[in-house]
Amino acid sequence: MTIKVYFAAGRERWPEWEAPLRAAFAACDLAVSMSPEPPRDPARVDYIIFAPGGDIEDFTPYTRCKAVLNLWAGVEKIVGNPTLTQPLCRMVDPALTEGMVEYVTGHALRYHLEMHRHLQGQDGVWRSSELPPLARERPVAMLGIGALGAACGRALAGLGFPVMGWSRTPREIDGLVCHSGEDGLKAVLRKAGIVVTLLPDTPQTRNLINAERLALLPEGAYLINPGRGPLIDDNALLAALDSGRVAGATLDAFRTEPLPPDHPYWHHPRATVTPHIAAATRPQTASRIVAENIRRGEADQPFLHRVDRDRGY
Ligand code: NDP
Ligand code: OXD
Repeated sequence: MTIKVYFAAGRERWPEWEAPLRAAFAACDLAVSMSPEPPRDPARVDYIIFAPGGDIEDFTPYTRCKAVLNLWAGVEKIVGNPTLTQPLCRMVDPALTEGMVEYVTGHALRYHLEMHRHLQGQDGVWRSSELPPLARERPVAMLGIGALGAACGRALAGLGFPVMGWSRTPREIDGLVCHSGEDGLKAVLRKAGIVVTLLPDTPQTRNLINAERLALLPEGAYLINPGRGPLIDDNALLAALDSGRVAGATLDAFRTEPLPPDHPYWHHPRATVTPHIAAATRPQTASRIVAENIRRGEADQPFLHRVDRDRGY
């Protein structure tokens, strides 16, 4: 039987995804008929490939669909859809992880080495006694130690940073000292020279980085947020940047995207804005994950990276 797949991840994505997906289906020996066109009979669709901004809002007519396969790691735009009763899988893509490790490591090293001091406002004064500390002297708080946070944490630990991980449930990760719970968060923030937020956007994580928690940080700490905009109370962060308590923030995700041109982050001398490019799902590698999940669905095996709808991620 041919498996019917609806590519509902947006027409503009179809040209870059079609060939890698077809190659990945062939490699898994799957006979698939796939189209980006809305199906005439939704009840005959077996799998939906989805991305935010795609074509489906109402999943009700897809009565035979065995899984909705999200091309993004974050699922906040779909997980609360009341019409979605089918299993939802999120993306864990090796190339996306690689990209995130590069982004986080790059910005952490930029702050650690205080490169901005040498890139801006050079004044001809030779300050050879102002040495940056070593990585081992600058603790990093990795808030969220899932697929991405754990990989970033390991990379930073490999460079010598003492990395403290924080998660919802207790975790053990080689090379990291892991914490959980409110007390764990406080302990981690009190020591952090650099805070990285790689948490999903859920009701529990919204405004996690608020004035009270920013006040726990050592003076002059740095923040890197490639997670999601709502993790941050923006007014509290702007106040902490104004006062210098937070010496620099690199922000990749925002409550409103694109970030409006008049948003204070664009112009703040201590803020770096990147346009949600920290890491992207790459068709070559991610297509293999999609195909593997369809293979599993057809073999009645558990899906990879299935989202827990109650947890919200
Ligand atoms: P995972 O689901 O693998 O990991 C999430 C981590 O967050 C887990 O450690 C989890 O804890 C922790 N967590 C969730 N809720 C809470 C909470 N209430 N309190 C404490 N910890 C919590 O996700 P990924 O690592 O794959 O991705 C993380 C996020 O990164 C995505 O949700 C997305 O928002 C963002 N992202 C951004 C990209 C960009 O380009 N800017 C690209 C890709 C992703 P536990 O281990 O206990 O479950
Ligand atoms: C994702 C993202 O969630 O790109 O995959 O933000």
